[in-house]
Amino acid sequence: MRAVDLIRKKRDGGSFTAAEIGFLVEGIATGTVPDYQWAALLMAVVWRGMQPDETAALVDAMLHSGSVVDLGDIPGPKVDKHSTGGVGDKTSLILAPVAAACGVTVPMVSGRGLGHTGGTLDKLESIPGFTVDLDLPTYRRIARTCGLVLCGQTAEIAPADRVLYALRDATATVESIPLITASILSKKLAEGIDSLVLDVKCGAGAFMTREEDARSLAASMTGIGRALGKPVQALLTRMDEPLGRTVGNALEVRESIDCLRGGGPADLMEVSLELAAEMLLLGGVAANLDAARDRCRRAIADGSALERLRRVIAAQGGDPRVCDDPEAVLPRAADVSLFRAGCAGFITRLRAWPIGQASMLLGAGRQTVAARIDPAAGIVLVRTLGDEVQAGDVVAEIHVHPAHADRLPAALDLLREACEIGPTPPVPS
Ligand code: URA
Repeated sequence: MRAVDLIRKKRDGGSFTAAEIGFLVEGIATGTVPDYQWAALLMAVVWRGMQPDETAALVDAMLHSGSVVDLGDIPGPKVDKHSTGGVGDKTSLILAPVAAACGVTVPMVSGRGLGHTGGTLDKLESIPGFTVDLDLPTYRRIARTCGLVLCGQTAEIAPADRVLYALRDATATVESIPLITASILSKKLAEGIDSLVLDVKCGAGAFMTREEDARSLAASMTGIGRALGKPVQALLTRMDEPLGRTVGNALEVRESIDCLRGGGPADLMEVSLELAAEMLLLGGVAANLDAARDRCRRAIADGSALERLRRVIAAQGGDPRVCDDPEAVLPRAADVSLFRAGCAGFITRLRAWPIGQASMLLGAGRQTVAARIDPAAGIVLVRTLGDEVQAGDVVAEIHVHPAHADRLPAALDLLREACEIGPTPPVPS
């Protein structure tokens, strides 16, 4: 087989056999199919799509590019959650310790920022000392002792996704149902879970902007996951505005800790608790969703969820004092500029997509595979949807490193595109 022939086949609308997909995935993992051929192939898949059996074969090949972990020796249910990607989406940092405090082991293999969306790994790495690169024995040990472990794809777990994920981020090839399905399921089915909750984002700030596409993505992932023997539950949630008030890595860690201390904005808490409750239900530690929600709220109120986070941060080399005094521990931008309302009225839109783009431009995300993240960069929404403002009121803070100050005008343009002010409050949808 030759990669160039397979690229041509997909370019012209053909379908791959399982053997051809196996050849290509082995090629990315071993380096015999170079990045540039995979980049071309990814673009062909974005345009031409894949049949369900091709997608299933891609999941299988990517899953078996590394080890499939067995955590059967850890007692109790092992349940994880994964989001298809959003702006300000920090729910993993909240729900993983909540679910762990409620008796569910959460072995979580996450991703980095992808396109205009943030990634759990980049957020975690903003905590000084925290490492997301764990070998398999360490991964198992932390899952057992902390009830949760937060790491990235490794040379052992989902190595094909590790390479393809970074390549897709830099080649505008994220928005594809088969590629998202394979990326998510290959990581999640490798990590040793019994069941999985999926947060399928839908809206102008999501990779799936149309509800019918989000439903197809959910069906693709639940269908293949269940065919492989794992109970998978998908929730469709809106991604039109950023979740919560912060976008950017350290800023989002700070907000997540606020949530675990009983604060936090209502929209973020609602999605986080709903997903955590689904995890408890799938894990069989709650009889119904109402009981599960109550149990999750108690884990926040009694401090046990925050204690889980503190424990896992220490186990993964991070500074656990971040849970008590995030301001003192997390990196902060030297410069904070302000974005102000151009007129009086009500905020009727705060579009997630341009806000995500602005945050990435400021250094919170990558423009190339090798780009370095600025953990302190990002945006704080001082005002939110429905708020009344006067001309000149501060709507958002822009956190940026002085070395990137030349990016401010473009970030301000994106915020102007994001923020719509009208004479009447928005009608709740
Ligand atoms: N999250 C992933 O892990 N992969 C994707 O492709 C999109 C979101």
